[in-house]
Amino acid sequence: MRLAVIPGDGIGREVVLAVLPVLALLNEACDLGVEHDVFGWGADEWLATGTGLPDGALDSLATEYQAIVLGALGDPRIPDMAHGRSILLGLRRGLDLYVNYRPLDLPTGRIDLFRENTQGLYVGVGGTIARRGSVSVAIDECVYTRETVEKFVRFGLRRLADTGRTKVTLVHKSNAVPNTGRLWQEVFEAEAAGFPQLSAGQEYVDSFCYHLVRDPSSYEGVLAPNLFGDIISDIGAALMGGLGLASSASICPETGCGLFEPVHGSAPDIAGKGIANPAAAAMSLAMALDHMGYGKQAVLLRDSVREVAGTELATPDLGGSGTTEGFMAEVTDRLGARLGGEADRAGEPATTA
Ligand SMILES: NC(=O)c1ccc[n+]([C@@H]2O[C@H](COP(=O)([O-])OP(=O)(O)OC[C@H]3O[C@@H](n4cnc5c(N)ncnc54)[C@H](O)[C@@H]3O)[C@@H](O)[C@H]2O)c1
Repeated sequence: MRLAVIPGDGIGREVVLAVLPVLALLNEACDLGVEHDVFGWGADEWLATGTGLPDGALDSLATEYQAIVLGALGDPRIPDMAHGRSILLGLRRGLDLYVNYRPLDLPTGRIDLFRENTQGLYVGVGGTIARRGSVSVAIDECVYTRETVEKFVRFGLRRLADTGRTKVTLVHKSNAVPNTGRLWQEVFEAEAAGFPQLSAGQEYVDSFCYHLVRDPSSYEGVLAPNLFGDIISDIGAALMGGLGLASSASICPETGCGLFEPVHGSAPDIAGKGIANPAAAAMSLAMALDHMGYGKQAVLLRDSVREVAGTELATPDLGGSGTTEGFMAEVTDRLGARLGGEADRAGEPATTA
């Protein structure tokens, strides 16, 4: 198994590098044999060489690695985020990672949010007309193909049904954005008919956001186009207790490619202070472990992260006084103790009922 690690910029680098000792521990304690390579793609390289995603990177990632863990991209020296589009959007589109799964772990229960990840307003179709040096006309086109919407909706419904969820909500805005909105509705209605075990509903995105904040318990599975899903996941992160807790998986179900990353960005306001919350990065590593077939280790890692998030060693965004490094050192210790406990139990004589 090989894991590609792209720390990126700002706190992305800090949190990803802080979680890597977990991998070393798991390799040693469980003999996982997961090797990793770190790629320095990000703002510094872009500014030094003009390279975002290097030639050949997509092929290499698709064929030589089972999963990718990414920190975050974004740097105040590159205000138009050109390097981020090259690297992050390049990976999402180049590897056809059209399903973005963002679990919202709330006190009222988990919401499984699926965001379409490659099309919509993020396709980069459009342009500007400038007069006397300033933009006078700006166009960003929202583009959806039936093929992508169909495979995305089908995957989300199948996953929800397979994991025992009973309810799914499509989020759209077909009253104001009728063309792509209608396509999503048509596809959703046709595909949902094949999943009678799921009670299927639809909501306008504005009303959905209102109800999500007022009563998250009324949702189980949510399917959303790209931009709406992006915004909803930050609202969900706020409901969870902060952006530092929200992780995500971008996958192509057909090829098995998977990219795992925190929902948050590079947070220039706290970068370099050593106080970024590493929980979302650790949860992203847990998702990567799940993806590579190490579900048991992923559960133990998640439990350890949740435990430390409730202590004084948590970072200031969670109300603690800890540091990124200190948080992860404690997670690693507790994970080690859990693995030791598992090993002890495995050595115990089997009991019979
Ligand atoms: N996937 C990505 O790489 C990604 C996602 C979002 C934003 N960005 C980029 O990141 C840069 C900063 O964007 P932004 O400020 O709008 O969003 P952000 O997510 O970086 O930060 C928003 C706020 O949340 C806080 N925050 C975020 N993550 C945190 C963590 N782990 N621990 C503690 N606090 C945390 C920040 O300090 C900030 O106050 C921009 O360049 C943006 O384009 C990248």
